[in-house]
Amino acid sequence: MAGKELKKIANMAQHEEEENQNYGNAPLKEVDPEIYELIQEEQKRQREGLELIASENFTSRAVMEAVGSCLTNKYSEGLPGRRYYGGNEVIDKLENVCRDRALKCFDLDEKEWAVNVQPYSGSTANFCAFTALLAPNDRFMGLYLPDGGHLSHGYYRGDKPINASARYFQSLPYHVDPNTGLIDFEDLERTAKRFCPKMIVAGSSAYPRDWNYARLREICDSLEPPALLLVDMAHFSGLVAAKIINSPFQHADVVTTTTHKSMRSTRAAMIFCRKDWENKINSAVFPMVQGGPHNHAIAGIAVALREAMQPSFQQYAAQVVKNIQALCDAMKKKGYKMATDGTDTHLCLWDVRPQKLTGSKVEWVCDLAQITINKNTVHGDKSALSPGGVRIGSPALTSRGFKEKEFEKIADLMDRVAKICIAVQAAGGKSMPDFKDILKEKFDSDIQALRKDVVQFASKFPMPGRQVE
Ligand SMILES: Cc1ncc(COP(=O)(O)O)c(C=O)c1O
Repeated sequence: MAGKELKKIANMAQHEEEENQNYGNAPLKEVDPEIYELIQEEQKRQREGLELIASENFTSRAVMEAVGSCLTNKYSEGLPGRRYYGGNEVIDKLENVCRDRALKCFDLDEKEWAVNVQPYSGSTANFCAFTALLAPNDRFMGLYLPDGGHLSHGYYRGDKPINASARYFQSLPYHVDPNTGLIDFEDLERTAKRFCPKMIVAGSSAYPRDWNYARLREICDSLEPPALLLVDMAHFSGLVAAKIINSPFQHADVVTTTTHKSMRSTRAAMIFCRKDWENKINSAVFPMVQGGPHNHAIAGIAVALREAMQPSFQQYAAQVVKNIQALCDAMKKKGYKMATDGTDTHLCLWDVRPQKLTGSKVEWVCDLAQITINKNTVHGDKSALSPGGVRIGSPALTSRGFKEKEFEKIADLMDRVAKICIAVQAAGGKSMPDFKDILKEKFDSDIQALRKDVVQFASKFPMPGRQVE
């Protein structure tokens, strides 16, 4: 080999060696420009758009710092003081702080309640709780998905189980009254007496009203043998923490929650249980369902729990409800129909069937205009495939500082969306493909004008959290 070649190889080896020694210290922008650009794009989308998905929020810089820390490096299978790995003295303290804060945040006595803060997500937390409390094939009941329930509360399409809790357990849905949209407790009671579930699951993803836990407890206790009551407060736990709506803890045996919705933390979950169930819940989380805890996420939960115990969080949670109620009232004044005629919580369901629209069309136009909502079934819908409503939530924009006045302005924007949809339909856009084509051909200028107003409006408000620069 020529001397020149040898020198080149030696230089390359030296360069590699230097890179290895320097491993892990270069910024994202240099290491991976492709992912860096995608994050920039997403930051812009979140900053310039109106985020009205009821399950989303803007977590704080403090939470992001904890989540983006060295805690992600550590394995810690087991519980504080009982780990399968060494080096967990700090992680033990962290998990204990998080558990203490979780109990304190919801005013729970540690002699009566325990909490597991390791679940990776809400669906996993629910599956862990079912695994702990039910044997395979045992029966349980949850709110029907198209009536506002969640997939993880058991869902079948025909006879086909769509998620694991319906596959490994037998689930039967209960319903809302098709006329009022409110939970039909009488029907639930009658059905439960025939089905004899071992557990009733309360909680929802798209139900705008508060829950009557005393009534649910009464139904559970009237069964022979009595059923357990599991409350999944994933959506509204922030409002429970701030004491804005009913707390489930007096009546429930087990309470699960995600931490990234109205709680405003990172993506994770917690399971609260009465002390009798503590060992079963803990061993269902690990080793039954999960592996090593996500310690960075546990730190993120702990930080958000501390934030949630400050007076400013109470003001935030109260504002969340005031804002969505202001939107509902403004929509009703414009002649639109809101399911259950309003809301007690952080979300509302806009019934677009009186305008002869579908949720899919409204969602499509909103998306093009950078308004983020989602199509949703509304009570009385005949088909879950073409739902007649959209779900609108206030937690995220309230975190950006929006107040009632801004939510009234959102009602004006929604009105423009509905008018565009009606005009596209009148121009022949009945089926979804025709609707999209006609919208593009004939209404592009209306969409561009709407989008411009949305971006101008949203960009005035700060976006909380740590931005990637
Ligand atoms: C009531 C309810 N439970 C559980 C979940 C699932 O949470 P995750 O997406 O974290 O699994 C959701 C998600 O939206 C939910 O609304």
